Amino acid sequence: MVGDGVSAKPALDKTAAQAAKLLAPLQIGSVKIPNRLFLAPMAGVTDQPFRTLCRALGAGLAVSEMVSANPALRGTRKSRERTDHHGEPGPIAVQIAGADPRQMAEAARVNVDCGAELIDINLGCPARKLCKVAAGSALLRDEVLVGRILEAVVRAVDVPVTLKTRTGWSPHTRNLPRIAAIAEASGIRLLSVHGRTRACGYRGEAEFESLAGIRAQCALPLVANGDIDSPAKALQVLNATGADAIMIGRAALGRPWIFGAMAAALRAIAGPEHRPSSRPNDRPSDTPSAPTRAVPSAPSPAWIGAILMEHLDRLYRFYGEPRGVLIARKHIGWYLRALDSEAGSGNGSQNDTGAKHWRSRLMAATAAAEQQALLREYFQQDADAATERPCAASSRTGGSH
Ligand SMILES: Cc1cc2nc3c(=O)[nH]c(=O)nc-3n(C[C@H](O)[C@H](O)[C@H](O)COP(=O)(O)O)c2cc1C
Repeated sequence: MVGDGVSAKPALDKTAAQAAKLLAPLQIGSVKIPNRLFLAPMAGVTDQPFRTLCRALGAGLAVSEMVSANPALRGTRKSRERTDHHGEPGPIAVQIAGADPRQMAEAARVNVDCGAELIDINLGCPARKLCKVAAGSALLRDEVLVGRILEAVVRAVDVPVTLKTRTGWSPHTRNLPRIAAIAEASGIRLLSVHGRTRACGYRGEAEFESLAGIRAQCALPLVANGDIDSPAKALQVLNATGADAIMIGRAALGRPWIFGAMAAALRAIAGPEHRPSSRPNDRPSDTPSAPTRAVPSAPSPAWIGAILMEHLDRLYRFYGEPRGVLIARKHIGWYLRALDSEAGSGNGSQNDTGAKHWRSRLMAATAAAEQQALLREYFQQDADAATERPCAASSRTGGSH
């Protein structure tokens, strides 16, 4: 009811309280998560460099890429990299995937020995490779096996075990309520749900009624996931579900500052009386917590360029130069796309042919120095173009988050 101050006030208070809730720490057993804006696990994306950057830029928790529980893969370079948490701020959350209770229990132990402070079980990933071996979301069809896996993992480690799942196998078999009940009975400490079924893949919009149903039935802290890309969407999902936290996946690609930008917007909505009283990084853990950096309310291309350079540097150091340069390519693509949507049209100083030529040189670069030099050139030209077009520049940096 527009203009009705009496009925609008409770709604505003509720929104402010929801915003404050997302900024408050969340305690999961012995682990204190500094806020409720989580980075979703994404294979091939949420590696140590990206997690560390997202944490520094405001994510409360950054869940690792999934680590296979198959012991035959344990010594591989991929598995070694996925268990390397050197320099990573806590709480360190590692996701494991597999279908054999004993292997899953062992994988949990190995990862805790390597520094994991939270173990997350993957029951939500529709990746073909996982479903072929009845792991990931394929497990949703075998509830008895789900129970055995969850119990085995919970028994195996003394850190909190969390579960990430979808709403069911298909729209005809949305068995999330039974999975949630099994999780609760097995000693799982937190449940993250992507609001789509396995069969839906990423099609259509995520739905959140299933999560609201779970909230009414299940006492576990609930994390809502699916299509969240703005503070408004986060608040809408929180309102619709009563969830305790939100998880962001694709919207963080090329935009690791989305968490800090979202937190700043939520702080403004929460107002001073709703701000969480405890300091965000005040946590009783062995691993160092990330000092959260300030994120500008409207990141300029220059600021985004500096974050990208830092990301590349972390990739080169973690993977070594040759692989770091290759892995960087997809991230660069995402940053440039984010730059286009955040700050306007990207590098306005290049015509189409020039841009194509520059991009192909960038994607062909095999040395870190060349990759960095091409990007510096890009951001420098962008800054020059912005100086020449002050009005255009100010409108481009005025994007909202
Ligand atoms: C590239 C990519 C890799 C993913 N890998 C995993 C994974 O390893 N484990 C998992 O549980 N979910 C995985 N997911 C699913 C995400 O964690 C998340 O549930 C999904 O993207 C929906 O959230 P969003 O709409 O915010 O992206 C992946 C998603 C993407 C896009």
